[in-house]
Amino acid sequence: MINNKQLLISIVCVLSACSATDKKLTAPATNDKVQSTVTYSKKIDWPVDNVAFCNAALDEATMQYDGFRKTYTDPSKVPRSFSNGVTRFDPMLGWTTGFVAGSFWNLYEHNKNQTWLDTATEWTKALEKNQYNRKTHDIGFIIYDSFGNGLRLTNNKAYEDVIVSAAKTLMERFNPQIGVTYSWSWGTWEFPVIIDNMMNLELLYRASEITGDSVYRDAAISHATITMEHHFRDDYSSFHLVNYDRETGKPNWKQTFQGIADDSSWSRGQGWGLYGYTMSYRFTKEDKFLEHARGIANYILTHPNMPEDLVPYFDYDAPKYPEVTLYRDSSAASLVASALLELSTFVEEAESKRYYDAAIKMLRSLSSPAYLADKGQNGHFLLKQATGNYPANDELNSPLNYGDYYYLQALNRCKAL
Ligand code: GLY
Repeated sequence: MINNKQLLISIVCVLSACSATDKKLTAPATNDKVQSTVTYSKKIDWPVDNVAFCNAALDEATMQYDGFRKTYTDPSKVPRSFSNGVTRFDPMLGWTTGFVAGSFWNLYEHNKNQTWLDTATEWTKALEKNQYNRKTHDIGFIIYDSFGNGLRLTNNKAYEDVIVSAAKTLMERFNPQIGVTYSWSWGTWEFPVIIDNMMNLELLYRASEITGDSVYRDAAISHATITMEHHFRDDYSSFHLVNYDRETGKPNWKQTFQGIADDSSWSRGQGWGLYGYTMSYRFTKEDKFLEHARGIANYILTHPNMPEDLVPYFDYDAPKYPEVTLYRDSSAASLVASALLELSTFVEEAESKRYYDAAIKMLRSLSSPAYLADKGQNGHFLLKQATGNYPANDELNSPLNYGDYYYLQALNRCKAL
């Protein structure tokens, strides 16, 4: 996830206290360069009825992913993205490895068909060693999307053991003095916590449900509460990374890593936050988490730089920088759509409709020729136009396996509402 340039920037920033002001804001951009990066696929005439649309989009996705599973047959080589005609694979301990198994589970959920069950089971089993993965906080993504979905859909008790074991591994990263789990094991930060880490709490909440031991859930609540305090600005946008001082337990450094500037609002980060607090409310029913999710949702849905089709630029502040290519991030849109659909089930009618309508608009945009790939194209991934890491010039205008995962999850959620 890091290249030498980023490592150097991180070291220089840590040593010299560089901040958002090092990346100067200039006059707003007048041109939307997104069009130049788009290739359009064949248009599909989707049903007007929303549930019928979600069913039809899952049927289409099933055909594309049938090509995917016939092309990528080795579950120890997990396809992650596709650029310039080349598929990038994640190593077995890589952070995105659970998403492909998770997408297969999502397709099994839709199709209820033995072959998708077999594929999902095979790709999940291949990830078993990750329950002991001490290299990453993303063990939550890896194990929950694969074994967590497997447990939800099959009630296979063996999956519970893997989830609890992985939660124990993740707990080794929890610092009770600071009250959060740390993110990266590389770089020069003292105790870095990225907003993405909210997603790994799902594993902890679930482990407490399985074992009846509140230790995992308490850690998750602590992490979510402290992150609320230190990652978020008054307008509910979030910093990407907060570094904590181990002595004082207080933050001593805030910056971006994948956004355009330290004081900017990286789109996927807002999505991780929205999803993380909505999910935290699902498990805890703590009002403060629901209020926080509502605040983030409002930030996203009222942002002046949100494009008309509700598929955000990779950073909500990107249009302030004329030199920046305004890549979209379809993965941020699919993630937000999925979170909004869940959030819509926790609030009163008018607000629920607002979230539902926005999520459906996002899903319909993502299912349009600008974002949804033709069959057999795009390395057999579903969504085009995601942004992995703009500052590192990495995975730009590319499919990402997690974008596909949340798109499929959102379509299933839409079906179930
Ligand atoms: N969790 C890493 C990313 O969102 O790119």
